Amino acid sequence: MEIINRRQRMSSVARKIRREQDRTVGLVPTMGALHEGHLSLVREARRMCDVVVVSVFVNPTQFGPGEDFEHYPRDLTKDTALLTDYNVDYIFAPTVEEMYPKGFSTYVNVEGLSEQLEGASRPGHFRGVATVVTILLNTVRPDFAFFGQKDAQQALVIRRLVKDLAFDTEIVILPIVREDTGLAISSRNLYLNADEQASAAVIHRALVQAKSAYKDGERSASRLADIVRSTIESEPRARLDYVAIADAETLDPLERIDERPTLLAVAAYIGKTRLIDNTILNKVKKKEPAPQ
Ligand code: PAF
Repeated sequence: MEIINRRQRMSSVARKIRREQDRTVGLVPTMGALHEGHLSLVREARRMCDVVVVSVFVNPTQFGPGEDFEHYPRDLTKDTALLTDYNVDYIFAPTVEEMYPKGFSTYVNVEGLSEQLEGASRPGHFRGVATVVTILLNTVRPDFAFFGQKDAQQALVIRRLVKDLAFDTEIVILPIVREDTGLAISSRNLYLNADEQASAAVIHRALVQAKSAYKDGERSASRLADIVRSTIESEPRARLDYVAIADAETLDPLERIDERPTLLAVAAYIGKTRLIDNTILNKVKKKEPAPQ
């Protein structure tokens, strides 16, 4: 495994692999502090691609003023040790100056999908995500890039970006990985103390309760949102930021749940830590392959 810090070296290594060796490249973009969620992406990349690149870069442009950019957990030595066990070929770990050199002034904005939910609570967040993902895709030019469904809106923004800007990369979105308590695994869970860890399970519990009401026939978005709200409010350490019920493709808010896939998304503070989670109602079932 090689650790690459320079964009130019990363580009030329990836170009060689694709052109001269005719092998496929998978990219797993991360901000480090790797956990089971990331590792599920790495495993799938390893399964689908000949060569796996994991990028580790805490991207300043996706953090707002007063957010946790300075304190975001960073431990490249630990991340490298983990990735060695997963047989990763390259770690791309550039500095901020390497990704955003002096004079950098081009940003990517995915209109329409970036302003609501996370975008409303974190203005400018998706501009930062779309910009860094564009740089990463242009640097590595992977055949496949892997992201988690926990960041559901990010996944939509990236799919749109790849389509609109004609990137030759297939985006693969993998399911949320959870602790036994149901808590969605996230690097920010590291901020939680033991009591907060236990309290944070309320977020998933709220989604499960709303989903079960939906399965029992509840179709009113506001009543489903109320279930999420009251469950989260029952936990003294939790404070709801938002609950949203929206078309899972366009993020248009819904008043009633109909046949289309619907995103039920939540952001809540546990103590000072802001966490997100989601579930899909009316999920389109993947067709089983026909028996041979
Ligand atoms: O999901 C993340 O970890 C980040 O938003 C990403 C996609 C690596 C871009 O910085």
